[in-house]
Amino acid sequence: MKPKVYATYKMPDDVERFMKQHCDIRKWEGEELIPRDVLLKEIANVDGLYSSRNSGGIVDEELLQSAPHLKAISTVSVGYNHFDVEAMKKYNVIGTHTPDVLNETVADLTFGLILSTARRIVELDRYVKKGNWKSTAAYSETYGRDVHSSTIGIIGMGRIGEAVAKRAKFGFDMDVLYYNRNRKQEAEEKYGAEYCELESLLKRSDFVVLMTPLTPETVRIIGAKEFKLMKKTACFINVSRGQTVDEKAMIDALNNGEIYAAGLDVYETEPVEMDNPLLTMPNVVTVPHIGSATAKTEDAMAMKAAENIVAILTGKGKFDKAD
Ligand code: DGY
Repeated sequence: MKPKVYATYKMPDDVERFMKQHCDIRKWEGEELIPRDVLLKEIANVDGLYSSRNSGGIVDEELLQSAPHLKAISTVSVGYNHFDVEAMKKYNVIGTHTPDVLNETVADLTFGLILSTARRIVELDRYVKKGNWKSTAAYSETYGRDVHSSTIGIIGMGRIGEAVAKRAKFGFDMDVLYYNRNRKQEAEEKYGAEYCELESLLKRSDFVVLMTPLTPETVRIIGAKEFKLMKKTACFINVSRGQTVDEKAMIDALNNGEIYAAGLDVYETEPVEMDNPLLTMPNVVTVPHIGSATAKTEDAMAMKAAENIVAILTGKGKFDKAD
């Protein structure tokens, strides 16, 4: 008998074909987020859950208690802060995630946010479209800041951080500083990255890029004190998770001119609430948590997540453990 899997994430056809070779699948077909009570009912009889951070994938004691046969949960994301890892250990459920396949794509978006904050691309797009480009005399009002030959400070030098460092060093001739819980020899050798304490990185960087996973140690790693240490000309980029930043302190720092701009892929509350002051600030560039959102990369992540769950449930092959 094939293992049973419930899928809340809408998988591409080739992924579904692959999964069906190895598992019996039931899927959530609704357009909206799966209601919690439906999920709790559906997982009562399955061996595996195939989900993602934004397809009802929050894994807690309640969910685990409702799933006596569950052996594996596979998330289509690299971040797995929506897993209660300790509870999963208690219930003998293995969690997997999708590292590596998204590194370059997230690094591309990071540079998109760096360029659009520094060169005010979104703001000036609106300026042109509103008919404000009336004369070349006021040209200085469109000035931004240089990205090339500046200093980037990467907080969290994981695999995505390294892909950012590569672009910074070889594409933009930037000096690369980094802060991480351990030293990264390879990044130092390949990209000339200099290890810094957080305080020193914040003081020296023109671009402060937050890439760290959300863990108890990184919750609000950047708050009022940290914004005050940054250069007034610094652009702050967050592509990690909204909870790594004290959002209110960031809003104050932007309002008080303590930093130049912010480029954000993530927010304390997602989807971001429409009355969030960040949405009305001209020096803030917002995108809706799209770090990995290209068709090619999302498909690769969906396949990797399928391979992970199949490997656990069939006992064959390797998987990317989320622990
Ligand atoms: C993930 O996969 O965890 C990231 O948030 C990609 O955007």
